[in-house]
Amino acid sequence: MSRTPLIAGNWKMNLDHLQAVAFVQKLHWTLKDAGHDEGSVEVAVFPPFTDLRTVQTLLDADKIPFALGAQDLSTHDSGAYTGEVSGAFLSKLACRYVIIGHSERREYHHESDAIVAEKVQAALRHGLVPVICVGETLEQREQSGPTAVSVAQLQAALAGVAADADIVVAYEPVWAIGTGQVASPEQAQEVCTALRQVLSETLGADAAARTRVLYGGSVKSGNIASFMREPDVDGALVGGASLVADEFAAIIRYQK
Ligand code: G3P
Repeated sequence: MSRTPLIAGNWKMNLDHLQAVAFVQKLHWTLKDAGHDEGSVEVAVFPPFTDLRTVQTLLDADKIPFALGAQDLSTHDSGAYTGEVSGAFLSKLACRYVIIGHSERREYHHESDAIVAEKVQAALRHGLVPVICVGETLEQREQSGPTAVSVAQLQAALAGVAADADIVVAYEPVWAIGTGQVASPEQAQEVCTALRQVLSETLGADAAARTRVLYGGSVKSGNIASFMREPDVDGALVGGASLVADEFAAIIRYQK
């Protein structure tokens, strides 16, 4: 089964809603001017919450073929949860994806595996595709090897997930995020293979065959092709490089 590659840009806390308009328009025209084949890869952008409505309106008005995603969501659907954002509202804003369990939220907001699993359920409840982030720190890698932490995190995140659920998994070694210390394609393949095995054991062979597993962590235009040549890597979750239109366009237009 062939899986459509997914190149996703996680903007993190960058670009206000005015900067977002200029950026999305530049990215769109950079790809069009380069003659990009829109059907060759799915592109998704994950702006800050404050930009979602503006970006959604622009994508819709200009028929820009980028999928929209949010960077987090509440485990709750509505109510007295100050500062939280409901998956129901994200779905109403035409979000297709939502990042869950990013290492920066696991670290700075103490998101446990149990909270990640609840957020996966909340995303699915509202018709959103969870992008489930897993990955080890350098210390964890040295102590328990390259795959143990990511495998355990994914197993926990999949609690109660149905075999036919539409999900995406992103392997983001913490030691490669924002550091320029990118994992090797072989290291990415090793963990992505182990994660696909978890999908098979937990959700079944069909789910393992159709679910996209991404790599994230210092992805640039100079290294994306080497990851995309790996059989179990189906795309990238890009941070810093996704904020520069020419660079992100070059990542999207990778040639294996
Ligand atoms: O979610 C993607 C992000 O964590 C990777 O960041 O800047 O290393 O591409 P970066």
